[in-house]
Amino acid sequence: MSTAPPVTGGARNASLCVLMSQTTSQLERPRILTGDTPTGALHLGHWVGSLENRVRLQDEYECYFLLANMHAFTTRADTPGDIRRDTIEIVCDWLAAGIDPERSCVVLQTEVPAIAELSWFFAMLLPFNRVMRNPTLKTEIDSKGLGDKYSFGFPMYAVGQCADILAFRPVCVPVGEDQVAHIEMCREVARRFNQMYCGVDPKTEDADYPGAGGLFPIPQALVGRVARLVGVDGVQKMSKSLGNAVLLSDDPKTVKKKINRIFTGRQSPTEPGDTSNALFQWVEAFVPDAGRVAELKDKYARGADIGDGHIKAEVADCVNALLEPMRERRKAFEGEAGERKVIEIIRDGTARANAVAEETLWNAKRSMGLDFFARDLRAR
Ligand code: TRP
Repeated sequence: MSTAPPVTGGARNASLCVLMSQTTSQLERPRILTGDTPTGALHLGHWVGSLENRVRLQDEYECYFLLANMHAFTTRADTPGDIRRDTIEIVCDWLAAGIDPERSCVVLQTEVPAIAELSWFFAMLLPFNRVMRNPTLKTEIDSKGLGDKYSFGFPMYAVGQCADILAFRPVCVPVGEDQVAHIEMCREVARRFNQMYCGVDPKTEDADYPGAGGLFPIPQALVGRVARLVGVDGVQKMSKSLGNAVLLSDDPKTVKKKINRIFTGRQSPTEPGDTSNALFQWVEAFVPDAGRVAELKDKYARGADIGDGHIKAEVADCVNALLEPMRERRKAFEGEAGERKVIEIIRDGTARANAVAEETLWNAKRSMGLDFFARDLRAR
């Protein structure tokens, strides 16, 4: 890439951007990127909200799964040891869930310098007030009780997330519903960059940006089949901190016990039940056979002698059947030897990710007239 002709100025770079995006799309599978902030063990809400999609998409797409450990520091800078532990743990969850490190890259955010650099450039493309109006940030400030004491870096993470994504020029970002506002901001950044530095006409349709000379595709959010899984308290969205979560790492007995807690308020097996209640959200989410789901619904609605306990036991069996292969796969990553394997997987995935992210950064800099000379950093 260092042999590319020097180019300076915005509009003149249009043809170059076309060239890059065409070569990448012709030679490789389309990319997806997504990630998690390491905050502790993953649960069933993560599975139906996004993880399940990721596992499935590995066949068709070149996948990058990002460990957003930098973002963990935006609210927990005082507990680096916990963040390190959570980072390893989340990789174990991913691998157990079926993320295959041979096919997909597990990427450590803090070792992809291009992300940090792009974050700065993107911060200049977003009005300050636009970032602060981001509804996901606002919700988080409330739910985490951050008040007005949050760090400068906290809202910056939303800008950083645009860079996480665009560094890989993905067509799609599989996420939970709560992340859609971030993806929308990322799409705005991508459009603006393409218009400002690649000479793309602002009237261009989203899908046509790469063809019109844009460096960045306008990525689409892909939300999982269950946007909001209710926890075993039967009321709130599943969340580890609320204590209403079934973890992917729970053993069969714990799963049974937790699912038994789902409260419906129904008094007897012959009382006609409400099939939109919390328990039936679980039936819909985890009983794989659609015919059986319909049958359960019908009986429940009629109060045809079917108790909540019976249904809970059936749901628990289905959840355990889902988690069993995960328990098997997890064994390979337990203990110190397991942790060494995990770190090796992260190292390998991050190396492959850096090749892509550096290519993006170089093209972005070239579009911005920042290609004074190729990157030539040396450590001593
Ligand atoms: N903010 C996301 C979360 O907390 C994690 C994340 C960071 C992410 N970078 C990303 C998700 C890029 C999708 C794409 O879950």
